[in-house]
Amino acid sequence: MSKVLLYLLASLLTQWVLAQDQATTLCGQSDFYNSTLVPYSFNNNAWGDNGQGYSCLRIYDDDTAFSVTYQWTGDASTVKGFPYVKADPSRLPVQLWNVSSLEFSAQWRTYVKDTENWSDEEQAIAMDNTGLRVNTAVDMFLSDNAENSTGLGPPIEIMIWQWFTPTVLPLGHAESTPEKDTVEVAGTNYSLYHGWNAQGQHVFSWLPHKNLTSVDTDYSPLLRYIYEQGLLSGALYMGQLEFGTEIMHAGEETHFEAWNYTLRITRDGDPDALPRPTTTTTSSSTTATRTSTSRTSTTTTMSTTDSATTPTMTDASGATSTANTASSVSPFAIGYSSTGFTFIALLLGIFLLTTSYTLMDNAS
Ligand SMILES: *[C@@H]1O[C@H](CO)[C@@H](O)[C@H](O)[C@H]1NC(C)=O
Ligand SMILES: *[C@@H]1O[C@H](CO)[C@@H](O)[C@H](O)[C@H]1NC(C)=O
Ligand SMILES: *[C@@H]1O[C@H](CO)[C@@H](O)[C@H](O)[C@H]1NC(C)=O
Ligand SMILES: *[C@@H]1O[C@H](CO)[C@@H](O)[C@H](O)[C@H]1NC(C)=O
Ligand SMILES: *[C@@H]1O[C@H](CO)[C@@H](O)[C@H](O)[C@H]1NC(C)=O
Ligand SMILES: *[C@@H]1O[C@H](CO)[C@@H](O)[C@H](O)[C@H]1NC(C)=O
Ligand SMILES: *[C@@H]1O[C@H](CO)[C@@H](O)[C@H](O)[C@H]1NC(C)=O
Repeated sequence: MSKVLLYLLASLLTQWVLAQDQATTLCGQSDFYNSTLVPYSFNNNAWGDNGQGYSCLRIYDDDTAFSVTYQWTGDASTVKGFPYVKADPSRLPVQLWNVSSLEFSAQWRTYVKDTENWSDEEQAIAMDNTGLRVNTAVDMFLSDNAENSTGLGPPIEIMIWQWFTPTVLPLGHAESTPEKDTVEVAGTNYSLYHGWNAQGQHVFSWLPHKNLTSVDTDYSPLLRYIYEQGLLSGALYMGQLEFGTEIMHAGEETHFEAWNYTLRITRDGDPDALPRPTTTTTSSSTTATRTSTSRTSTTTTMSTTDSATTPTMTDASGATSTANTASSVSPFAIGYSSTGFTFIALLLGIFLLTTSYTLMDNAS
């Protein structure tokens, strides 16, 4: 075997070993990674960083899973970040009335550090003890202007929550009619809240009546309900679509993990568009089980925020938060592999190179 061939073999093997554990970690405030393996980009999006905490988003398993490690203290009434996975923009923007399906499936969990093997009840107590204020949500940004819907600060936001600590409430919780605005999707009732922030931005939040830890459904009935009820125009352009965890406070290090996810739009006329599902809406006087009358009596104070942000949740004490920035305009973050694995791979490479040189020495 020639020197060159041996060298090539060794370096190829090194690269292959490295590729087996390619994890990307984003720790900067707006660190961003656009995957070439899955149709998603990722953003650490710690836009409300108050200097009293940290957030790192790690992408692994060929970009099919990510985790966020965070801790945020200080003023618990403001959002610190919304680290997220974002759908490829190739089918966006799309007008609401042309959304044929909004496919979302994922599995996730949140736990305070070192409590992951505790019972659900014990974990909830740990979350409460550390003042955890978070949700998980699918998040969309809209505008009547197609181009502006894809940029910073679009005037309208629609969120679909899946899981949340009881210490957070959606914006507009005091003024909404969740009992009336209830839609059942995949066996779970979601109720709608909506409110405005100081900039006049309109935020819609669908909240499930129970915590979910996995979803596999088409959320488009929740969009259809909003324009069919005349709450928004169906002509609005949706420009951005994300799934992540909105974080206001975590007294101790906390972990969020999401895996096995799909977040995808199909539009009228797309070859893979699903037939429109029939909507099961309830406009009855049924009481939404999780609406808290005691909490909704508090006065909400709107805080002035950067125009690039829109509020989407409040804390249960009534203070208003701000929410995630609309889009990621940050440059690519440099991904790096986990150091242990790199080290092993390098050792293996050096060993192979040494071996090949020994072979060549013997041969010559
Ligand atoms: C990510 O890359 C894909 C493929 O090159 C591109 O179509 C898409 O616009 C990129 N996404 C973002 C958010 O830049
Ligand atoms: C988008 O929806 C509008 C309103 O329902 C409809 O007139 C139009 O044909 C749809 N566009 C496509 C491409 O199907
Ligand atoms: C991934 O999610 C799908 C639903 O979308 C589910 O049927 C499947 O069991 C999940 N896979 C794993 C490994 O959990
Ligand atoms: C929880 O259980 C898993 C699987 O048994 C284990 O790998 C992990 O170390 C445990 N975590 C803690 C904090 O004990
Ligand atoms: C969701 O889970 C958290 C943590 O376990 C718990 O504190 C909260 O009460 C749950 N919320 C609902 C609506 O069940
Ligand atoms: C789009 O956004 C820019 C910047 O905020 C604004 O100046 C412009 O008027 C917007 N265009 C439309 C059509 O809304
Ligand atoms: C959803 O709410 C409706 C009434 O608002 C009720 O009839 C239905 O059983 C609920 N579905 C679930 C899954 O709880």
